[in-house]
Amino acid sequence: MSDESVPPCRLVVLISGRGSNMLALADACEAGLPATIEAVISNEPDAAGIPVATQRGLRTEVVPHRDYAERADFDAALAERIDHYAPDLVVMAGFMRIVTSGFIARYLGRMLNIHPSLLPAYPGLHTHAKAIADGRKRHGATVHFVTDTLDGGPLVANVSVEVKPDDDADTLAARVLTREHELFPQAIGWYATGRLSMQAGLAVLDNKPLDSPIAL
Ligand code: GRF
Repeated sequence: MSDESVPPCRLVVLISGRGSNMLALADACEAGLPATIEAVISNEPDAAGIPVATQRGLRTEVVPHRDYAERADFDAALAERIDHYAPDLVVMAGFMRIVTSGFIARYLGRMLNIHPSLLPAYPGLHTHAKAIADGRKRHGATVHFVTDTLDGGPLVANVSVEVKPDDDADTLAARVLTREHELFPQAIGWYATGRLSMQAGLAVLDNKPLDSPIAL
């Protein structure tokens, strides 16, 4: 899978919590995805993903958002730490902060997020509970480029699972999460190999603008 002639894609991974997507990405990099995790950065000092990443031999940093009175000041501090690693791609893997438009503009076209719903359905929080309450038959997760619209940037790819009659938000989230761990490395792999980009506000895969996400 890895091509020795192409330098690996440098990633900075942003997390706020347990970091299972970050770990799946680390596994994929070890298995030959042509990318390197240069750093894992959390806004939450107590994020469970930080010790997990450290044990994994990854460089970690915490930029606590509560230390900054203004959102823009936190974003500037975060950007300073991200840029230190000169990433090709910024990966939001369970990063639970709303960032300013200046921050988004700085990484436009080189920042991907994973969101636990079949976007454009259910942007925002509590997606699994909402899907169950609405009687949805299927739910899932979507990778998209990050733009100014919350969970609304150009859609790249998604995975979907059946919503079972006895599901609650936790069982459904767990089933979706397993598939997230395949979805995110796949999409990041496309970016790392130059197959995926954002152009004129659309995700473009293999020179084709995507009018809907690739279903994996
Ligand atoms: C995932 O469900 C992801 O889709 C969402 O936040 C959760 C993060 O989980 N954005 P983890 O920290 O990667 O385990």
